[in-house]
Amino acid sequence: MISDVAAPAQTFAEIVVDDIVRDSISAALREFPDPVDDIDRSLACLRMIFAQLPVDQAQTILDFGRHVDTPGVALVRNLPVDPSLPDTPVDGEPSRTKKTFVAETVLLGLSQMLGEPVGFTTEKSGRLIHDVVPVSAGATSQTNQSSHVFLNFHNDIVHDSVGRYDVSNPDFLVLNCVRQDRNKEAVTHYADARDITRELDPSVVETLRSPLFRLNAPGSYIRDVAGGGEVLSDPVAVISGPVDCPEIAISANGVRGLDDVATEALAQLQAACRAVAHQVKLEPGTALLINNRKGLHARSQFFAQHDGQDRWLQRTYIRRSLWTIRYRGTGFDRRVH
Ligand SMILES: [Fe+2]
Repeated sequence: MISDVAAPAQTFAEIVVDDIVRDSISAALREFPDPVDDIDRSLACLRMIFAQLPVDQAQTILDFGRHVDTPGVALVRNLPVDPSLPDTPVDGEPSRTKKTFVAETVLLGLSQMLGEPVGFTTEKSGRLIHDVVPVSAGATSQTNQSSHVFLNFHNDIVHDSVGRYDVSNPDFLVLNCVRQDRNKEAVTHYADARDITRELDPSVVETLRSPLFRLNAPGSYIRDVAGGGEVLSDPVAVISGPVDCPEIAISANGVRGLDDVATEALAQLQAACRAVAHQVKLEPGTALLINNRKGLHARSQFFAQHDGQDRWLQRTYIRRSLWTIRYRGTGFDRRVH
C-alpha cells in the first residue's frame, strides 16, 4: 500500500567493521607516529588506510557527513584498539605515556570522512584531539569534565565574538572510546531534532523557533577566559530551518529564556529529548559519529575515582569547510581557530 505520509527519517545508523578489515587497518595504525606532529600528512596517509573499508560502509559514513536526510548519529563498532594503555589522564590533558596512536588515528581517520578536523583556541587549548575524562574539580559541572551528574542535552558550541555561538561551532564531533568506565554505566544519548519536534506540542516548537533564547558560552570559556561569569549570546531561536531538516542549538552551560513561556519551552525540550533519544554505551573499539546541528547529545552520570582507571574518550571537532570560519584564523596553525 502506498501512503502519502512520508515515513520518519532514520536517525540512527550502525556500522560493524569486519574482523579482517579491522585487523588490516590495525596493523597499519600500530606503527603510526603521533598524527598531530604533521597533521595534514597524517590525514593523507589515513585516507589511504581507511580506503580498506568496504564501499557500502564507506558510503554510509560519507553520506552521514554530506546529506541532510541521513541519520544524526552513527555508531561504528569493531574498530582497532591500542595494544596496551597507560592510565587515564586525571587532568583533561593528553597522556604523556601513551606509546601507540591507534585510538588517535582511528579517530582522525573516521573524522576526515566527515570533514576537516579543527581546533578552537577556547576549547582544550586548540588541540585537534580532545581527551574527555572525568576531572575531580569538574565532577558536578555541566562540562565534559563531569561524571557525578547527568550532562544535559546540548550541542557543542563555541564562544564567538560575533555574538552567535551556533555559527562557527563544529558541524560534527566524533567520540572514540579508549577506556570504558569501570561499572559500565555511562550512557551517551542523542536526540535528533526531527524526532524532538514530532514529540513536542506545535506551540512549544513555535516558541523554540522564536529568538527568545540566549546561549551561555561553554564552561571552559567561562572558567578559563571570562572569570566565571555568564557570557550570553545574542537572542537566538533554538530550532531553525525547514520542518523536515531542522537545526537545533542548546549550550550545555545553560540557556536563558527571555520570558516564562520560553523558559517552560526549554524544560519541555529536555523532557522530549529524554523520550526520543537513542542510547549507546561506548566501549573500546566503538566510536560515535555525531551531527552537531541535527540533534543534541547528553551523558548519564557514572562513577569516577580519578585513579587512572576512569572512563576515557577521545574527541574531535569537525567542520565541513574551514573557509567559512577563516575570520577566526589564528595565523599560527591553519586548523586552529
Ligand atoms: Fe558535548
